[in-house]
Amino acid sequence: MQTTSLTFLGLESSCDDTAAAVLRVFSDGTRHILASTVMGQNTLHADFGGVVPEIAARAHAERIDVCVQDALRDAELGLADIDAIGVTSGPGLIGGVLAGVMCAKGLAAGSGKPLIGVNHLAGHALTPRLTDGLEFPYLMLLVSGGHCQFLIVKDAETYSRIGGTIDDAPGEAFDKTARLLGLPQPGGPSVEQAALKGNDTRFKFPRPLLDRDGCDMSFSGLKTALLRTRDVLVAEHGGLFETDIADVSAGFQTAVADVLAEKSRRAIATYLELSPKDPVIAVAGGVAANKFIRSRLEQVAHDTGVRFTAPPLALCTDNAAMIANAAFELYQRGVRHDMTLSARPRWPLDTSRPAMLGSGKKGAKA
Ligand code: KG4
Ligand code: ZN
Repeated sequence: MQTTSLTFLGLESSCDDTAAAVLRVFSDGTRHILASTVMGQNTLHADFGGVVPEIAARAHAERIDVCVQDALRDAELGLADIDAIGVTSGPGLIGGVLAGVMCAKGLAAGSGKPLIGVNHLAGHALTPRLTDGLEFPYLMLLVSGGHCQFLIVKDAETYSRIGGTIDDAPGEAFDKTARLLGLPQPGGPSVEQAALKGNDTRFKFPRPLLDRDGCDMSFSGLKTALLRTRDVLVAEHGGLFETDIADVSAGFQTAVADVLAEKSRRAIATYLELSPKDPVIAVAGGVAANKFIRSRLEQVAHDTGVRFTAPPLALCTDNAAMIANAAFELYQRGVRHDMTLSARPRWPLDTSRPAMLGSGKKGAKA
């Protein structure tokens, strides 16, 4: 029999999605998402080729309380039914993070409920605990438009970042590729679609940092190579034929997949040194939706004897259920914050490592 245990409200506003969610955790450990609202901002930024921080911050400030109201209404609960409030307090675009933190502080002050600041990356990294009940330690590859890193998740507060991108995230590279080829945004799905009919060996794109030890990655050189290839094709034929677009897309996608697969192989080797009882690699982020990349990663997991899992897409991309879930994990560990909670533009999960270099179009990556 399940008896109600704790109910968490989560708020997220660190990038270009304003989100609120209600999560209920039962005393037998099961976790149910009672409501999850996400208001995207794609149309607001569409004309600018990237997220404009000021526009994002204003939209978050205008919408975050509406999201909270919607989530509570969907959950058929009031603030009085909530046991604690979790909010993304970094890393990300500072104006957006501030909007969420201010809203959460207001709710906590008004209701007298505990406040818990959550690291956005921890939200992503702990999602497989919500969706699959994974035991620590597990390996997480976070690969989206804003993030790209390998994390060994040891507990809700202990992460070892064993590699990541030193410049762009792969999702950014997919989006840029689509723009260069005249394909619609978001670039990932349209490049994947175009690549289905393409020959991935016609163009030789670089596999950056593959020759270097470790799990760090780089995707900006790949973008530059692609730009050059496109310019040569346009100069030769006065434009791009459908086969050119398909072949460039396929060549690019295979290059990204090769890098992610090889670096995953190395990350798994490092992770297995911990001798986990039930070794698992979990993949999250928008790029994990790519079937070609996903099958390459599944193959690596299979070859190395590690289980592969990926949360459903709605929980892979930015959302507030992951923040409520991380808040629950921290709450259990006794973490509580007060009105001094600050918004942090940068907040590496693994402070023992130097900060990642890339800041990307969607804000800081660590
Ligand atoms: O996780 P996400 O929704 O948002 C953040 O980055 O915060 O990821 C979006 C990114 C975009 O860059 C998009 O082009 C990419 O994920 N993406 C894909 C695919 N679907 C989305 N990339 C490759 N293949 C896909 N099928
Ligand atoms: Zn994110």
